[in-house]
Amino acid sequence: MDMQNWQQSCYEPYLPITEKSNPITRDIDRANPKEIVQMLQKCDAEIFERTSYGNHMYQTSVVQTIVDVSKRVEVILKDPEDSLIILSGCGTSGRVAFLLATSLNRLLASQNHKQIYSYIIAGGDKALLTSQETPEDDPLLGALSLDKACVGKKHVLFIGISCGLSAPFVAGQLDFCLRNLEIFTPVLIGFNPIDMARTEPIKNCSFHFKEVAERMNEMQTHQKAYVLNPAVGPEAISGSSRMKGGSATKIILETILLAGHQAAYNNEAVTLNGILHSLNMFEKVHQITYSQTTELAALVQKAAISLRRKGHVYYLGWQTLGIIGIIDASECIPTFGAGFEDIRGFVSNGFSEMNNKEGDLSSLGPHFIIGHKDFIDSILPNLSESDTVIFLYTENVDLNEVSALAKIVRQYTSNLHAITHEHEGLSDPEQMKSLFMTVLTFNWPSSLYMHQPDLMKQYWELSTKWCLNAISTGAHVLIGKTYMNYMIDLRVTNSKLYRRAIHILQRFTGSTLSQCETALLRVLYDVEELSDEMSSTDVTQHTVVANEKGNVVPIALVMLQSRRTIAEAKSYLNAYSVIRDAVAACQRLL
Ligand code: F6P
Repeated sequence: MDMQNWQQSCYEPYLPITEKSNPITRDIDRANPKEIVQMLQKCDAEIFERTSYGNHMYQTSVVQTIVDVSKRVEVILKDPEDSLIILSGCGTSGRVAFLLATSLNRLLASQNHKQIYSYIIAGGDKALLTSQETPEDDPLLGALSLDKACVGKKHVLFIGISCGLSAPFVAGQLDFCLRNLEIFTPVLIGFNPIDMARTEPIKNCSFHFKEVAERMNEMQTHQKAYVLNPAVGPEAISGSSRMKGGSATKIILETILLAGHQAAYNNEAVTLNGILHSLNMFEKVHQITYSQTTELAALVQKAAISLRRKGHVYYLGWQTLGIIGIIDASECIPTFGAGFEDIRGFVSNGFSEMNNKEGDLSSLGPHFIIGHKDFIDSILPNLSESDTVIFLYTENVDLNEVSALAKIVRQYTSNLHAITHEHEGLSDPEQMKSLFMTVLTFNWPSSLYMHQPDLMKQYWELSTKWCLNAISTGAHVLIGKTYMNYMIDLRVTNSKLYRRAIHILQRFTGSTLSQCETALLRVLYDVEELSDEMSSTDVTQHTVVANEKGNVVPIALVMLQSRRTIAEAKSYLNAYSVIRDAVAACQRLL
């Protein structure tokens, strides 16, 4: 069958780009590890593609907006008193906001400058480590948290990230900025054209996302607001904006912010060419990372074997690579319906490395235990060959510490691997490598960082993010947690996910919207007949109920496919550990 290109207007025309299914990964659930990595490589390459659809990353208008926003950053950095740069978003977008704000504050502090970055994540710091989807639907909460973060500030550059141009939380913040333009310069980052922004009405709110995005666009003509929304193509796993969305956000923001730093502190004016150069370097990072497809595929395979054996995958990272690991692991729960123990991340020095606003959260429970010491105390005693352990480090960390921990872990499992980054020519000592079963080493050419040495750390982070996204996504795909390229076992915990779930049911059953919504609600409320109250309650209430429920979409799907009761659909699904097999068998029954 011919692969249809998502850029054609007839390709899934009712969905915005970020929700479309990517033709590259249509058969990802039947691919082997190497093919999976190759598909992800192609999907991620679309970030840098000169698409014919909408804006693309290298388009002059996009690059010019990056220049304009970088100049705003420069102005703020030169006048840091009473000024602030706030990065905000929900889920992965908020985690990227956190990572950038904390690491750029560190950079400022190391150069004796005032720290002027701050972040907001819907759901607060808990959402850095666990999925908190409900606050995403609350525009007032977004606006209030922004207002609180800016008390006493006279100039605020606000960067709101919503990959799908969809999160009401961010819409509320942008609306607040637009009503207070004497203080705020708002910037919207996302990956859909404005005409594809979400139009679903927001509860107790006079605007929807698209209306705010249009106002932002209008204000851009007066240089009072900016919209950065290049099309980077659909996600490898449909709607999973943790992947390309997160990476593209990181690339755009690091380009903007570090260009602003160079201009403010090194007298290097922000130019179109400088920005193009920076984007080119990120494209090289993509090429270098995926040049090791075979080695990466081997790690995907190892991780899948562990999950299949009911073992675990543990990322043990140093410095920000540890945080990248924690973020990747935390996203597997809502994306694949994974258990929180399945893939976990740990960072050297725990919360003091995180440097998050609310401090040490470990008292909140086992989901919030993140230090290497915690790993030694709570995980190590039960570690076995069924578990895969992956160390993440660079040549800039204390290698004695890495080697000491590797020696301890090896006493429990030989299934120990490493992903490391070093400057070309400065190689990791051989004896270090002998501690691991496999080592995936990235040698970074000096041409990449000569221009802006500060970017090296950012490159290493992005490269690690791509590797870990491939490992966790690939492993879950291999154990059958997706159907084609859909995350079918998603939790329906906010309005966007509720709509996505209904769309998936329509896509695979051919039933009407109303039949699919009814089936979904029956599963959510666990009733064969919906009461009037259940049918008429708003989506928010449904998503509150959904917070406690797993396997909702697969059960509804089996019900729609085979006209079974809820109980029958559940017991049918219990016979299958692989969702694809269950759905396929169910379709054969027809
Ligand atoms: O609601 C879940 C989710 O889709 C996360 O996976 C994602 O990181 C978050 O929403 C934010 O999405 P967006 O950046 O499109 O607002």
